[in-house]
Amino acid sequence: MTELASPTQHPTGWSREFIGEITATEPVMGDSVLVTFTSPPQLAASCRAGQFVELLCRTPQSSDPLLRRPFSVYATNPARQELTILVRPFGRGSAWLVEQPVGAILDVLGPLGNTFTVAPKSKNLLMVAGGVGAAPLLMLANEAVAKGMNVTYLLGAMNAGGLLAPGHLPGEVEYIVATIDGSAGRQGFVTDLVSEYVQWADQVFACGPEPMFRSLRREVLANRFAAKPTVQMSVERTMACGVGACLGCMVETRRGMRTSCVEGPVFEMDELAW
Ligand SMILES: Cc1cc2nc3c(=O)[nH]c(=O)nc-3n(C[C@H](O)[C@H](O)[C@H](O)COP(=O)(O)OP(=O)(O)OC[C@H]3O[C@@H](n4cnc5c(N)ncnc54)[C@H](O)[C@@H]3O)c2cc1C
Ligand code: FES
Repeated sequence: MTELASPTQHPTGWSREFIGEITATEPVMGDSVLVTFTSPPQLAASCRAGQFVELLCRTPQSSDPLLRRPFSVYATNPARQELTILVRPFGRGSAWLVEQPVGAILDVLGPLGNTFTVAPKSKNLLMVAGGVGAAPLLMLANEAVAKGMNVTYLLGAMNAGGLLAPGHLPGEVEYIVATIDGSAGRQGFVTDLVSEYVQWADQVFACGPEPMFRSLRREVLANRFAAKPTVQMSVERTMACGVGACLGCMVETRRGMRTSCVEGPVFEMDELAW
């Protein structure tokens, strides 16, 4: 009889639960912080854009908050055996995390979830990010540029202070921004920029809040021919376990309910039942 792998086990057989030590922190996008921590080398090497980690946001002496919190992987550095996440202080857990200094110890589960999938024939990739949705798309942009693809990266924020500095993106990427108050780039929503790129793009990748997805869907459907480009969306659901056990993160698709922690967080827009 084949023994089933534990949900916390990586396909390579390694455990996905590990203790990481923070090696660097860097303020970014206003009140957010890039947190870099050590990880087992095989996990840093195999992690791909779209995956996330679940972190205990408390000291070992405390039990509050009890449940892990999910954060997309922003970058990996297999040579240094490190993962980086981008954390916006939102509630108790993330506020604790952005306060942690270099040398602090993190209890990590991951990388978890599926990945963005770039089709072998795709050349032109459009990325649409809202706020901290910038994180998984930054990693995807790096992967795509390394393979010689053309990337246009659209980012929206409330104001200029909430944007990613251009130096964080590879130089080959066309980086265009929109802000609600007009303090940088086009005034308005990031999805106002999308129509100009729909016919250029072979694929669209998106991460951000749900209202952004709804506007993106409208823009794409209004401007694309047949089903090109396809759109992959990284959906944000509250996640209690991250391993398919609690069913708290279900997403309704045309093929039924799916767990966004195991079968997602990346879904084809045309599959989502919205
Ligand atoms: C797959 C995935 C990837 C994510 N990537 C990032 C990232 O790269 N950077 C980042 O800053 N944040 C990311 N988030 C969001 C992050 O997980 C939440 O901000 C965090 O869990 C909130 O926890 P907290 O303890 O700070 O807030 P809490 O005190 O637990 O919550 C405050 C409020 O936020 C709500 N809330 C809790 N978790 C979520 C959630 N996941 N989505 C929406 N509302 C929530 C609660 O219901 C509550 O009303 C991601 C979420 C998911 C599901
Ligand atoms: S978070 Fe528990 S099933 Fe997805």
